[in-house]
Amino acid sequence: MPYEDIGPVLGLALSNKGWLRPEHRVGDPNRYMRHVLYVDPGNQFVITAITWLPGQVSPVHGHHVWCAFGIVEGELTEEQFSESHGKPIYSKTAVYRPGDLAERDLDRKAIHRVSNRSRGTIVSLHLYGVSADRLTTGINRIYSWPLIA
Ligand SMILES: [Fe+2]
Repeated sequence: MPYEDIGPVLGLALSNKGWLRPEHRVGDPNRYMRHVLYVDPGNQFVITAITWLPGQVSPVHGHHVWCAFGIVEGELTEEQFSESHGKPIYSKTAVYRPGDLAERDLDRKAIHRVSNRSRGTIVSLHLYGVSADRLTTGINRIYSWPLIA
């Protein structure tokens, strides 16, 4: 899938939610939960829905692969960081609502932390330029604390 097609395709999927099944709203109390929706037969990308229960948060991370995401249901918070000498430095916070597309990370330079600060369940839709066998360990490049505010 060429990069320039990602935005329109994601937008279409967010506005036509026929693919969303009840199980995609079921989260894991221990951590945010990925549901694999589609695996590219050519191993170039994977599409997943992620379910975020109230209070769940990702680690601060960059990406080993290109990625893009948008919001299906709920209100998702994204803290964005820049990097200085290998350390993440907070830059801003964005709040996304259903239908919103987040900033894409096509050049693998984005650093962020995504969280559910609301009282409801959130479902987000993600495309990752990764093969399915690397889905668990091949996407996130995790930073350790402490952060520089
Ligand atoms: Fe991410």
